[in-house]
Amino acid sequence: MDYDKTDIAAVYDSARGFDPDILQEWLTLLSAQVPKDGVSRIVDLGCGTGRFTEALSLHFDADVVGIDPSATMLQRAREKNSRNPVSFKQGTGESLPLEDSSADMVFMSMVYHHLPDPQGTARECHRVLRKGGHVCIRNSTLDQIETYPYLRFFDGIRAIIEEQSIPRGQIESDFSTAGFKAVIHKAIPHRIAPDWASYADKQAKGADSFLARLPEGDFQAGITALRAHAEQADPEESVRMNIDLFVFQR
Ligand SMILES: C[S@@+](CC[C@H](N)C(=O)[O-])C[C@H]1O[C@@H](n2cnc3c(N)ncnc32)[C@H](O)[C@@H]1O
Repeated sequence: MDYDKTDIAAVYDSARGFDPDILQEWLTLLSAQVPKDGVSRIVDLGCGTGRFTEALSLHFDADVVGIDPSATMLQRAREKNSRNPVSFKQGTGESLPLEDSSADMVFMSMVYHHLPDPQGTARECHRVLRKGGHVCIRNSTLDQIETYPYLRFFDGIRAIIEEQSIPRGQIESDFSTAGFKAVIHKAIPHRIAPDWASYADKQAKGADSFLARLPEGDFQAGITALRAHAEQADPEESVRMNIDLFVFQR
């Protein structure tokens, strides 16, 4: 999806921002697999508005370059991140604007299903990483479809997820073919919202690329159904879905 042809950049952070404890959980998961002392340069590939970029720099005490094809997403990222070791470049996964063996880690969050050439991107990761460097991928996959909390509220969304999502095995095969060894795969139960009412508010902002493919009438009907559910749900019930974490090593 070309994010510059949508209004997603303007609403992304308010619709998909993390609570600080959730962000910390993800960073801790990463450094449990990738020792911090071997990481001084990170690529945040498909960084978007920089939801992870500065946090990666602080957590790993590393330089981070955020790369994204979208000018509007990068503009938001640049506005928020003024820390020196963080920089941004316009580019794509299939043609990374970076030198050979120049990075210790490539991180990708919720990008894989947008890549037009995932195998070419895996080859580019191999090129820019030093030997022993890691690729960490945080992405929902087709295997987790039943955990999408909005599945039962939006007519037509199942077919869109099925068409757009990548199976877990495809990601593993792309990186194995590019010369990586698999370190771990885990399905992480990720808390998207503390309750159904705030989950409905977040989805209503329209920053989800799968929901953005629905006809407007189906999207609005789904938001109404979601809000109706929120009104009678336990206000203490958090909303979760499984997100896959893959770590590969060059
Ligand atoms: C759902 S956003 C994720 C942003 C960020 N990683 C995060 O987790 O908040 C997906 C991002 O992938 C970017 N993207 C789309 N095609 C890409 C490509 N070929 N190479 C790298 N990034 C791409 C989009 O521009 C968008 O910013």
